Amino acid sequence: MGALLSDAAVIERVLDHIDNKTTDVGDDSWREPTDNYRSEERHLAEIELLKRLPIPFCPSAALPQAGSYVARAAAGTPLVVVRGEDGVVRGFRNACRHRGNQVASGSGCVKAFICGYHGWTYRLDGRLRHIPHDQGFPDIDKSEHSLVPVDTSEKHGLVFVTQEEPVADGALEGLDDLPDLFAPDQRIFASGDNVSDVNWKLSMEGNLEGYHIKPTHKETFYPYGFDNLNVVETFGNNSRVTYPFRRIEKLRNLQPESRNIAGMVTYVYQLFPNVTISVLSNHTILTISEPLSPSQTRFINYRLTNKGEQKEGERAQRDASFVSDTGGKEDAAVIRAIQESLTSGANEYFTYGKYEKAIVHFHKTLSDLLKRVETK
Ligand code: FES
Ligand SMILES: [Fe+2]
Repeated sequence: MGALLSDAAVIERVLDHIDNKTTDVGDDSWREPTDNYRSEERHLAEIELLKRLPIPFCPSAALPQAGSYVARAAAGTPLVVVRGEDGVVRGFRNACRHRGNQVASGSGCVKAFICGYHGWTYRLDGRLRHIPHDQGFPDIDKSEHSLVPVDTSEKHGLVFVTQEEPVADGALEGLDDLPDLFAPDQRIFASGDNVSDVNWKLSMEGNLEGYHIKPTHKETFYPYGFDNLNVVETFGNNSRVTYPFRRIEKLRNLQPESRNIAGMVTYVYQLFPNVTISVLSNHTILTISEPLSPSQTRFINYRLTNKGEQKEGERAQRDASFVSDTGGKEDAAVIRAIQESLTSGANEYFTYGKYEKAIVHFHKTLSDLLKRVETK
């Protein structure tokens, strides 16, 4: 993946920043109107955009065998993705072709989807296989009543779904520019979701800069990390922010080729626009933000073992420590406070500076792509 620095180069850059008391900076600052966090119209435009981009739906590891499926709403639309007998992952609108009941819920492993209302039964490739008492439907052509497919592809250890015509030529090819994010040996050991009364972008922004580390996380992350010392890279619409730990200094005395970055930094990848992958010391978290309204978001989380890590759970426990739990609550409290102040009228816009380079990239890209949605 040429667009991102190698681990060795990241280490070098971090050590330079420590020596020079510097951090990565962007070229521009940005003003984002606060209306964009409140307006229903903007929310609907963002939902439309989410349907027209390839968006991670779940890790490949959530679909380990033929018949494994995951069902949930994405951009407000109920979908189901399933691994077929042929090993191929397919996605469908989760709506029975009789009268629209959802044919799957949650996750699991099935031989076929049997609608719970009247029992219409679909093969894993979506074809309608069986209608109970089908003499009641003398004119129906089964082949015209398959589950409705959505464009689905599996790459880099993730399943991507594009629900509607892509917003930009090349939006799908853009997937080729991503690094391999999950290796086949990474396993899911926990997953879940929660709903929070915040705009999804406020929450996303909190992941994308280290300028807040000392004031917000004075006794949690700051004692182990640095204030405002990050490597910030953008690649395509996406970005990666590196948060080093102080212990990275131990690598100074090693030859570059014998330095191992594991446990020395947290990498946070943002897959534009609503997905993050945080590679922590002992496990990796995939989070998909599903905007429910301008002021409410569902967060879908998968926790996976790290590459080459055999003992799941046990080591990950170390990341789920007092420090990261409390640190997470500190972030959540700030985001709720911002959400509440949106209606105060104090800010017509928020200003993002050069230390908030990944957020500037996020808003610029979002703004550009939304213009294309509107003109379609
Ligand atoms: S709605 Fe599915 S079988 Fe009737
Ligand atoms: Fe934070």
